[in-house]
Amino acid sequence: DKAQQDALKKAAGIEAAKLIQDGMIAGLGTGSTVRFLVDELGRRVQEEGLKFTGVTTSRRTQEQAEGYGIKIVNIDDVDHIDITIDGADEVDKNFNGIKGGGAALLWEKIVAINSNKVVWIVDQSKVVDTIGKFPLPVEVIPFGNGQVIRKFEAKGYKPTLRLDAEGKPVLTDENDYVVDLHLGRIDHPQELAEDLIHTVGVVEHGLFLNMVDQVIVGDPAGPRVLTN
Ligand code: A5P
Repeated sequence: DKAQQDALKKAAGIEAAKLIQDGMIAGLGTGSTVRFLVDELGRRVQEEGLKFTGVTTSRRTQEQAEGYGIKIVNIDDVDHIDITIDGADEVDKNFNGIKGGGAALLWEKIVAINSNKVVWIVDQSKVVDTIGKFPLPVEVIPFGNGQVIRKFEAKGYKPTLRLDAEGKPVLTDENDYVVDLHLGRIDHPQELAEDLIHTVGVVEHGLFLNMVDQVIVGDPAGPRVLTN
């Protein structure tokens, strides 16, 4: 149930927080699992005097971190990022995964590719044999999004425009739309990634391939650290 899943997310977040040390520049991801990570980092900043600088992947995470007095800077004002810790929606045994369930995939990918080390924190339910059961988020420019969706339909990608509770398109931090592809399973992620990124109107997609160094899995027996 949700309470148990939250406990696993929290355990993974607390374990990952140990990776942040004084003086580091750390990328902070987005989502309900990262929320626990930032809570723990905030506690360490306030109770233990931990001093680090954060780069955030969404306005939500920035607000939460700054609420704890964590110093957050613009990504363009750092010359490197030591480590980024983020959540994921699905991850396979090769550390390829899907992100963007929370619509933050674009900033998340920009922060990830500029990081020396990338760590994902997930509960055990997100570790899968084949990714794709979780609908793949694709960030698209609003202009002409209907045409992009038709092209995806013709390719059998089963796209849906992500809407909020009022039926309006969900907006990303860059004011783009999110189209979710209901693929069921993704057997050739590299080919799909190439196709998506070369579709005019697509800004970025939620396939994160060959980007992750470590996955911390919240497991009832305790957090498991998987290294690539
Ligand atoms: C945000 O866009 C996503 O990539 C999140 O990192 C991902 O959805 C994981 O979120 P949860 O920790 O809430 O499951």
